[in-house]
Amino acid sequence: MRSALPSSLFNLLREASQIAEGMGGALYVVGGFVRDLLLEAPTLDLDLVVEGDAIRLARRLAEAHGGRVFSHARFGTAKWILPARRDGGQLEQELGVSHLDFATARRESYERPASLPQVERSSIRQDLGRRDFTINTLAIDLTPARWGRLLDLHGGAQDLEEGLIRVLHDQSFVDDPTRILRAVRLEQRLGFEIEERTEELLRNALDLLDHTTAERIRQEFCLILQEEKPGEIICRLQDLGVLRRLHPSLECDPWLRERFRRMRRVLEEGWPLAEEPVEAPDPTLYLALLTFRLSEDDLRAFMARLRIVSDEAKLLHQVHKLRKRLPSLREERQKPSTLVKWLEPASREALFVVWVAADSPLAREQIEAYDHTFRQVRPLLSGDDLKEMGLKPGPIFSSILSALHDARLDGEVTTLEEERKLVEKMSEERGGYNDKA
Ligand code: CTP
Repeated sequence: MRSALPSSLFNLLREASQIAEGMGGALYVVGGFVRDLLLEAPTLDLDLVVEGDAIRLARRLAEAHGGRVFSHARFGTAKWILPARRDGGQLEQELGVSHLDFATARRESYERPASLPQVERSSIRQDLGRRDFTINTLAIDLTPARWGRLLDLHGGAQDLEEGLIRVLHDQSFVDDPTRILRAVRLEQRLGFEIEERTEELLRNALDLLDHTTAERIRQEFCLILQEEKPGEIICRLQDLGVLRRLHPSLECDPWLRERFRRMRRVLEEGWPLAEEPVEAPDPTLYLALLTFRLSEDDLRAFMARLRIVSDEAKLLHQVHKLRKRLPSLREERQKPSTLVKWLEPASREALFVVWVAADSPLAREQIEAYDHTFRQVRPLLSGDDLKEMGLKPGPIFSSILSALHDARLDGEVTTLEEERKLVEKMSEERGGYNDKA
């Protein structure tokens, strides 16, 4: 731990453990941090569990060091947002983290399968016993007298060594079917294997996904899409029969895996030519790829299943609309004005997804040309110029401006003089001049 943590964070944990002890409690670091530490891939994602009152402990630390505490009395949890330092520097920079999470050791019971749990205060032993997989039940005791001792009550260290994802008891997936998604995510992230009996239990619990709320599934699904290799996880979900539970038409195949890889690469390296980055959060972009080949009806059903709404829904719909242009983009080089007409209504995020999904180099090239060049092209003359030229404001204005825009895009006019001539010609044809002009 000493080498995995910045020394000031290490010292802060020592102080926290002394305060906890002074309050008659004990402090542990549990879960992902311990797992990753033993895998020699340490993170600073510290989950601290207090046998005692986590909220009081967080408040005591904030009294001593500043910062703010957000607590959740029902769950006995507190988030301590670290303060800015007096010398103007951020404590965050020194500690390497922006906040610390404290949770009161708790017991959970489930009234019925897939429901949210009832929570009661308890011991670290019970707290670890309610968790999903053995490798997540490892804890490090931070009590001053036992500082640094590993607490391994469920054989987590052994499973870590053998690379196994194993539930603690047969009811685990029944209590919480989102663990099905978690098991696969963790398995693929760590390059582990779901243990045989666990896989059997997982398969038996698949029906329960139908009774799990859309929000909980969506949340876990989005975590999958934010992993380094979402394609691998989605394919494993398919092999286990999970994917078709979310929607029977979803399919993971080499096409999707390759597109996921391409998307990740491009998000890291930057979209060719584009100066502005693509702004949508990654999970939605991947979601748009996953649903790219669904029919309109299937897309709607999938979105209803995961209750995908607002901006995310808008992106998926836009991608679907844009997708219909791909055959024409693939077959021939379109006029720039046609590209603008087709592509302008879509957001850059939708364009980006379609660009990633497109199989044809010509289609991709045309999307790039639109994004990089054509979308910025404007005629030199504006509405005001048209007025000055004696044109009557009205519907004819926008039709002339739009034709002018097309002509400039397609290279039919390149100078101010040519634009003026074209406007004059169009207004004569369309009768757009003021009577006095
Ligand atoms: N947990 C659980 N069942 C769930 C969600 C979480 O038992 N449905 C437990 C896990 O044991 C986990 C802990 O709660 O260790 C904290 O959850 P989370 O922060 O999601 O897990 P991490 O292990 O930190 O995962 P990650 O590495 O993905 O952040």
